[in-house]
Amino acid sequence: MAMDAEARPMIKRFNLSWKGPLNPRLPMMLYVGKHKKSVINLITSGECSRFMVDHIGTQPAVLSTHLAIDTLSPDIIINPGTAGGFIKANASVGDVYLGHPQVCYHDRRINLPGFKEYGIGHYPTYQSDIIAEKMNLKTGVVTSGSSLDYTPHDLEIMSSYDGIVKDMEAASVAWVAQLYNIPFIAIKAITDLIDGNSPTEEEFLKNLRLASEMLCEKTFQLVDYLTTGE
Ligand code: ADE
Repeated sequence: MAMDAEARPMIKRFNLSWKGPLNPRLPMMLYVGKHKKSVINLITSGECSRFMVDHIGTQPAVLSTHLAIDTLSPDIIINPGTAGGFIKANASVGDVYLGHPQVCYHDRRINLPGFKEYGIGHYPTYQSDIIAEKMNLKTGVVTSGSSLDYTPHDLEIMSSYDGIVKDMEAASVAWVAQLYNIPFIAIKAITDLIDGNSPTEEEFLKNLRLASEMLCEKTFQLVDYLTTGE
């Protein structure tokens, strides 16, 4: 997970213990606990010691995921987080989506033969349609980029693959998971409506707590389902 504020309710709900940095030279933090027979490792990207903010975005997400896989050998990787939604896709603040059938990048424009689709990525998600139906969750393509806002070109690219859940990490986590052939699920709670009238940053800050609570509840159910198949 990228932000500490997003992870707090989850750390409490799963009763996870803080284990310190996943690697002593890097900022990523590890929290560990158990749910039924499964070990739960929650990793946050940690804080930037220069700017005193959380390490959000695509680059820390790659590093966290690689470190997590190398150190913990997970059976499955879940990327919970907050995201922007679209009114045109019937999203409301607090809705929780599973990324399906893929997660993509919307700001890697490489107009060279073969590289266009490579830039977008098209990383598959694990059984998310089946799980979403069982859990009564919305589904949609999660689209990641390195900015909270977007350019008209970003929007065009998102529309080309029906991207309706906009975040800053999922595609990066999915890329590393795919390299290692580990099943990947993105679960995202909506903090702001991209095609609404309010400034994204205001809506995001106003709704971060509520969305993180919704995210926690649904991620708990998701882990329970993956652990028990119920
Ligand atoms: N996280 C929450 N809202 C977002 C948005 N609109 N864009 C990218 N990441 C987000």
